[in-house]
Amino acid sequence: MNPRTIYIAYGSNCELETQILLSGDLGYIKAEEKLKKLQVDIGEVERILKALIKFLENKPLNPFYLYWEKTMHERMERILFTAETIQRRVQDIGKAISSDYQATGAAKDREGRPLIAVCILQGAVMFMADLMRAIEIPVEYDFMSISSYGNSTSPGAVRLLQDLSHPITGRDVLVVEDIIDTGFTANYIKRGLLARNPASFRICTLLDKPFRREEAIKMDYVGFFLEEDLFVVGYGMDYAGIYRNFPHIALLKPEYR
Ligand code: PRP
Repeated sequence: MNPRTIYIAYGSNCELETQILLSGDLGYIKAEEKLKKLQVDIGEVERILKALIKFLENKPLNPFYLYWEKTMHERMERILFTAETIQRRVQDIGKAISSDYQATGAAKDREGRPLIAVCILQGAVMFMADLMRAIEIPVEYDFMSISSYGNSTSPGAVRLLQDLSHPITGRDVLVVEDIIDTGFTANYIKRGLLARNPASFRICTLLDKPFRREEAIKMDYVGFFLEEDLFVVGYGMDYAGIYRNFPHIALLKPEYR
């Protein structure tokens, strides 16, 4: 047998053998430390590992990683928009943006500079990356980071964490957001960027929750409207900093919220 590192799976039910065989190449963790912490019977694990090694020797899987806990998929209650649905919508928006800016002649300003897209970190990163490639006219892009710290005494308080790298005066600006909720962040961005005298200003958001709006703001491009107050993760959106890399937009199971 070739020497190799074996990673094993475990779950709260400890249906170890079943999970090992079912979980595939979804992720990994070194088994030893985890099992020690859990005070799992190492002898039993060894027996299972031996059976597993025997099983793996006949499989064309190298390296073979197994997942130690629930995958992101298993933590989701419901997928709202699959990666495929998102991609289709992003392509449509990209086409609409391309033809709108071409039609208004704004795809290039008087000095020959193209449209500049502004990605609002961090949630919009995935959408931005796909949208940029779905736009058929030349685009420059830049990034801004905004933090909200609102509470009951100062609702909607937001501040700038990272500004654009380049001036936007006289430029056609398209802000790219992942989600618009109360509208406070988008209005803060709009006020700040309009003060720099761009040639034009538009906002594109992947998701919009219009019924949550506390400050009105006009959206120029919207991917999907959410009519229920759902806390969504995936495709850039997070819960406590994680799940941004989940490829679909989904709802977390209550036990993971
Ligand atoms: C989200 C989203 C918007 C903002 C919208 O950012 O990206 O910027 O909330 O909410 P609002 O309409 O109520 O102002 P978040 O604060 O979650 O930061 P992130 O993008 O870094 O995850």
